[in-house]
Amino acid sequence: MRAEAATALSLLVTPFQEFLLDQSSCLKQGFYGNYRDGASMKSVFISDQSCYRSTVMLLDFGVMAPSPEAGKQLVWIEEKAVDPSLNPSPFNSTLFDFIGRLGQPSSTSDLQWNQEVVFTTSHEAPPQLLFQSFTAALLAVDHTTARTIDQRLPRFWKSTILPQEPVQYMPVPGAAVDRVGKILTGLTKNEEIAFIVNNISSYQMRNDIRFLTGEDSRSGILSRHSFSDGARTAAKWLKTRFETTGATCELQDFLEGFAPNVVCRYNPVKESDSLVLISAHYDSRGSFGSTRAPGGNDDGSGTTALLSIARTIGRLGVKFHHNVELVAFAGEEQGLLGSRAYSAKLREQNADIILMIQADMLAYHKPGEPPQLGLPESIGTPEVSDLVGNISTIYTPELKIGTTRACCSDHQSFHQQGFPATQVFERADWIADPMYHNSGDLSDREGYDFDQLKAIAQVQFATLLHAAGYELSR
Ligand SMILES: *[C@@H]1O[C@H](CO)[C@@H](O)[C@H](O)[C@H]1NC(C)=O
Ligand SMILES: *[C@@H]1O[C@H](CO)[C@@H](O)[C@H](O)[C@H]1NC(C)=O
Ligand SMILES: *[C@@H]1O[C@H](CO)[C@@H](O)[C@H](O)[C@H]1NC(C)=O
Ligand SMILES: [Zn+2]
Repeated sequence: MRAEAATALSLLVTPFQEFLLDQSSCLKQGFYGNYRDGASMKSVFISDQSCYRSTVMLLDFGVMAPSPEAGKQLVWIEEKAVDPSLNPSPFNSTLFDFIGRLGQPSSTSDLQWNQEVVFTTSHEAPPQLLFQSFTAALLAVDHTTARTIDQRLPRFWKSTILPQEPVQYMPVPGAAVDRVGKILTGLTKNEEIAFIVNNISSYQMRNDIRFLTGEDSRSGILSRHSFSDGARTAAKWLKTRFETTGATCELQDFLEGFAPNVVCRYNPVKESDSLVLISAHYDSRGSFGSTRAPGGNDDGSGTTALLSIARTIGRLGVKFHHNVELVAFAGEEQGLLGSRAYSAKLREQNADIILMIQADMLAYHKPGEPPQLGLPESIGTPEVSDLVGNISTIYTPELKIGTTRACCSDHQSFHQQGFPATQVFERADWIADPMYHNSGDLSDREGYDFDQLKAIAQVQFATLLHAAGYELSR
């Protein structure tokens, strides 16, 4: 990049508004994505002054900053929507201390929290703070810091590494939304689907989750952090388990050092180019300073749901009319990195995705609360959420349906690529799991509700069956 061009670029963080990304807008050439800030979304742009001047009204809302230094990586950090009872003073000095600490030479005590992670530099350049609000900040940091920042953030904060290049803004096309609408309009209870989803085995789910968390010590898994050996063990184990159900699976690497995505496909019985995709993330995050990251709820629960669906497909000999993929992502905790790579690949192939549903945190509700199903308040395609909600009303009336602010799991990557997508979650409102991002996130504890976990898996499965079409071959 030429020096004069570089100096002319500035960064803009502004509330997301679709008109800023119109075909005619010069801003869309410098779009770096939408990120969550409290209850709203912010868009990040890097563009030159003449472009900003031509869209002058946006400067009333946005915050300008110098363009990041060359060679720096942009990282968005945000506070997750956790229940206020878990998070008494959300934005206190923890975050400021944290940002300050990034500029200090790393001490060995910082490094030992996860023995499986190797830091190569002892000095880090100070971070540039480009934007901050009460619930989010945008930093420019060196590459080593970017990769490991998630392990050093205050517990309820989450980081997302921004892409290196501008990204396309791709709204979900009207025709894709209409197709989901048609499935919803034609929806009636199918007794055979009820029979199939009722065949999910709770007993097997308990065994599977205990393997993934290491509660079953035979698995040897201590952590499923994206960089850990445990994540790789889990990936291979999942691949083998999915394959025994008739799927064809691949371990797909997406970034050096990260455990792979586990991508499993069932080919259709008829010729079809269309695809229904259901997913979860199998990577996890533990407590600061601990090598243990069992991820029993986040997101061992969604991963186990996916596996329970696959096992039932295999057991009953379900065959689909359209292509079906079951995907267990890695790199979610570092900012949806596995799903970002995979959804971009599907966009490049011009995949025809009917819908996708991410399952992230399905098992916990506060003791005394009824079993629930949370659907996203903001990120995702409302029509897909409506379909999932209506399917739950039909097949799992025991679930109380609500909307949640917990957001931004792997469905966001698909939604940003213009694919109809939503998430299923364990609760209305906030994240309330006291073991969220904690090394105590095991399956055997108060509030971890296997009946709810199974019921939400049934909802995801029933939606898959309605959307993909199927037949029973045995
Ligand atoms: C900041 O909040 C955390 C909990 O979110 C608490 O443990 C800590 O003591 C607080 N620090 C200050 C300085 O208030
Ligand atoms: C699922 O179906 C199989 C085959 O019909 C049957 O043997 C098994 O007991 C069923 N399992 C459950 C949990 O319903
Ligand atoms: C069912 O779908 C309708 C739209 O057809 C929507 O208004 C309603 O909220 C949905 N119900 C649930 C429980 O999601
Ligand atoms: Zn998660």
